[in-house]
Amino acid sequence: MKIIAGNWKMNGTSDALHTMITALNDVETSNTVIICPPFTMLGVDGGRVALGAQDVSAHDHGAFTGEVSATMIAASGAKYVIVGHSERRQYHNETNDIVRAKATAAIAAGLTPIICVGETMDEKNDGKTMAIIESGVRECIPTDARHVIVAYEPRWAIGAGLTPTREEISAAHTLIADTLRDMGMDTTPILYGASVKGSNASEIMSIDHVDGVLVGGASLKPDDFIPIITSVN
Ligand code: PGA
Repeated sequence: MKIIAGNWKMNGTSDALHTMITALNDVETSNTVIICPPFTMLGVDGGRVALGAQDVSAHDHGAFTGEVSATMIAASGAKYVIVGHSERRQYHNETNDIVRAKATAAIAAGLTPIICVGETMDEKNDGKTMAIIESGVRECIPTDARHVIVAYEPRWAIGAGLTPTREEISAAHTLIADTLRDMGMDTTPILYGASVKGSNASEIMSIDHVDGVLVGGASLKPDDFIPIITSVN
């Protein structure tokens, strides 16, 4: 059983989400399926599809215009929240410390954070991939956290149609699994994300320590997303 999560980013409509949920509820699968639409589309019944948010405030409540708290997200019925996505790090300067604070808030509200780590192209070219991944895992996961998901997202490959080699994915996921074991969190699922599509999903999910995928562009339409879900059992 794998975890297949879709990150809609700032795309879609409530109608499109309804269409997606209806289509996904007809799919026979034992995989866990999650959709993370924009905040305004949460609050609907996903049936067997779990819903998640794409970001969360580190604060509980107060004068933080534009932010949404973990308690509010949980009250919408969502079960998950993505934290530390590459685009949050790039456009909103989120650091590992901020990501850990957000993950802490999510866990306190009963949400499962999907914590993203991964290297930029510059970091890759500088030979820092493994160090960035390991520090990401160690610094973003709150102490004593139990239910979290880690997503390895090579930032240079997101939305670029690029995918790392099988060996690169395997090395990254093995490092994450080893680090999680060292932290006493060896049952934590590890997702791969960046340019996942129907044609590469089953191969990627056949790699050791790849417990599922976090999908961007290919999660927007049922015709693209369903083949990813049905590519594995
Ligand atoms: P992509 O995005 O699948 O469009 O590359 C992945 C992500 O940002 O999680």
